[in-house]
Amino acid sequence: MNPDPLVAAAVAARERAFAPFSGFLVGAALEAEDGTIVTGCNVESASYGLTMCAERVAIFKGVSDGHRRFKRVAVVTDADTPTPPCGACRQLLWEFAPDAEVILANLRGKAVRYTMRELLPAAFDASQLQARSANRGPQ
Ligand code: THU
Repeated sequence: MNPDPLVAAAVAARERAFAPFSGFLVGAALEAEDGTIVTGCNVESASYGLTMCAERVAIFKGVSDGHRRFKRVAVVTDADTPTPPCGACRQLLWEFAPDAEVILANLRGKAVRYTMRELLPAAFDASQLQARSANRGPQ
């Protein structure tokens, strides 16, 4: 049993994973600024490339519910080495949880912690788009 409710929420979300092709079940949980916990699980498609990771399911659920910033992230799998988010998920996590602590845990209580800054240094984000109007020229 993990006493952290965010990790517990990710464990419960993992049980809802739809992963018949990989057999790799992932649960994610995000803590929004107001303390709300939003969860996600991976959802696979028979057209494999359409699969969506647990982290991005949680982000999209949370944003569509009106949350814009998340302060903590938990990702749970059954792997011996806790599973880090893929590159695509790191990008989205950076955009909505740049200051977050990220807890990677497995079902046996092993956990490692990172900051988003450690997971995605020198990130691309909206701040790089500021020159866009200058580069676009006349419309
Ligand atoms: N997966 C996630 O849910 N999150 C990640 O960050 C890495 C990969 C899922 C996608 C796919 O359903 C399965 O794990 C195997 O790649």
